[in-house]
Amino acid sequence: MLRRGLPKAVFWLVLALPGGLMLADFAGGGVLAMDLLHPSGEMAVRLMLLALLVGPLIDIFGPGRFLRAWLAARRNLGVAAFCYSALHLLFYAFDMRMLSAMLDEMVLPPIWTGWLSFLALLAAASISNDRAMRRLGRRWKQLQRLVYPAFLLGIVHWLLLGWFWGPALVHLLPLILVWTARFLALRKRRARHEGLPT
Ligand code: HEM
Repeated sequence: MLRRGLPKAVFWLVLALPGGLMLADFAGGGVLAMDLLHPSGEMAVRLMLLALLVGPLIDIFGPGRFLRAWLAARRNLGVAAFCYSALHLLFYAFDMRMLSAMLDEMVLPPIWTGWLSFLALLAAASISNDRAMRRLGRRWKQLQRLVYPAFLLGIVHWLLLGWFWGPALVHLLPLILVWTARFLALRKRRARHEGLPT
């Protein structure tokens, strides 16, 4: 967890800045809600990615100072990802205008994948606090892993929306790379431990 006080407030200010600018632009009539779907959705994906990368990186390189600081911010990054997905949903609601239109669209794969991703993020964000951590004990960590399906569903949602392979896969690639590197590093370590050739 980030230290309370000024560093945490500054960190949150930086996280909130793009969202604040989007809202200000929208409120000022400078952009339409539909134009803000891309940046808000992309921010949610990027923040989730940042939250997911640090664990495997620590397994590979060990807990250096930089990675420890990053790890301390992980919970905040997850909550911020949820806030951006909520903002995304808000812009979607403004764009659609009617609840019935939103409900009609919900059966479409590019849309229900977005909803599922949002719900998984909501569940993870709702227990991202010290009280829930104490209450849930070991289950807390398992439930926090909902960020993985949330991220993958977000990527599938992005792909299905228009088959934009490039941008969606560019966001998946770093995770695939660190997972592969972690797998290889752990295998090497295990083999060394058991005295097997690496
Ligand atoms: C809450 C349910 C959600 C709904 C109804 C929804 C709906 C939409 C819609 C209608 C678009 C615009 C498609 C277009 O430009 O024509 C969009 C774009 C996008 N959404 Fe969602 N979304 C949801 C949740 C999410 C979540 C949770 C994420 C992130 C994990 C996400 C990530 C994105 C991204 C990255 C784009 C940009 C696609 C692009 O322009 O290339 N969405 N979403």
